[in-house]
Amino acid sequence: MNTVLNHDPAVFAVGNNYKIFVPVAEACLMWIRVGDECYYDHSNGVLRSAVTIHKITVPSEGLDKEKKYTVCYRKMIERKPYFSKTGDIEEIEYSFRPIEKLPIRIFQIADAHGMIDPPVGAAKKFEEEFGKIDLLVLNGDVINHSGAIENFDAFYSISSAVTKGEIPIVFSRGNHDTRGIYAESIEDYSPTDGGRSYFTFRLGPLWGIVLDFAEDKPDDHPEYGNTICAHAFRKEETAFLEAVTKKGKEHFDAKGIRLRIVISHAPFTKRCAPPFNIEEDIAAYWAKLLRERVSFDLMLAGHTHTLDISLPGSELDAFGQPCPLVIGSKPDVKQNTFIGSGVIMDKDETLVVFCDKNEIRRTAIIKNGEKNDE
Ligand SMILES: [Fe+2]
Repeated sequence: MNTVLNHDPAVFAVGNNYKIFVPVAEACLMWIRVGDECYYDHSNGVLRSAVTIHKITVPSEGLDKEKKYTVCYRKMIERKPYFSKTGDIEEIEYSFRPIEKLPIRIFQIADAHGMIDPPVGAAKKFEEEFGKIDLLVLNGDVINHSGAIENFDAFYSISSAVTKGEIPIVFSRGNHDTRGIYAESIEDYSPTDGGRSYFTFRLGPLWGIVLDFAEDKPDDHPEYGNTICAHAFRKEETAFLEAVTKKGKEHFDAKGIRLRIVISHAPFTKRCAPPFNIEEDIAAYWAKLLRERVSFDLMLAGHTHTLDISLPGSELDAFGQPCPLVIGSKPDVKQNTFIGSGVIMDKDETLVVFCDKNEIRRTAIIKNGEKNDE
């Protein structure tokens, strides 16, 4: 394919929109056409070309209805104050499969720490055994740090190989993503809600909230060299959570919602050993808001590099889980291996699958407040 696209687009869900990110190898102007409507990558009416990743917001309703979109671009030959020179319009069409019904097949990749093939292989193994996935969750620490722009290519290498631009993705930030000079420019490289890394999303019958516990040690830890204010950030996020959990009709109790999910890199309801035992009061308060105000079906997390299924009240539940929690990523960067987690969510039961690229490691069913290994 002779194109400026480095990878297939990544169609991220944020709010009631898709934020479509398209990494490119050459300077170009870009827009996306859905039906008769065009959506542009622009800055206040000026088409952007000085970017390595284009980002375009498309309302979910239109794309869900059309089930296809066209990436349109013009190569930028010379950008000048007057009479800029650009190439002809080039177009690539993608089909799109929105989430419309249950069950929903989700594959989570967290903690890949820069690995590409092992997590992609795990997702493919899940698809081979259980059918095509409907949603990819990139749940933090997919990269090892944000100290080099090229690191972000891992997001798009993985998403392109798994989704081919044809299904939605939910992205959540991990603590490793907060490290390095480009961490402060997260909204240029990954989806946010107006720069905020915590947000809600709606995908047909699924409503979800992405929460970001940010760094995993106290803000004054020497490793951060005075660069972190995650306590203040979590307080802002608490205000967001308080507001969202009061608005059921707009969000989690809106017409057509049948399943509700929490996505968080850190399994913040689990107690950690020092120096990671931070902000337990905030963790408990977040859990209380989620538990008392919303009826969640599942929480997905990574971070601890373990494979756990924790039910409310079980030994891993220190702060009052709102629902069953699946912690599902086990990377081994030295061995270049990765175990990820697939979940198949239906109204009254969830099948949990842990697998690597070669084999299914474990499957379990969560139903009626119990889990049973198969
Ligand atoms: Fe982490």
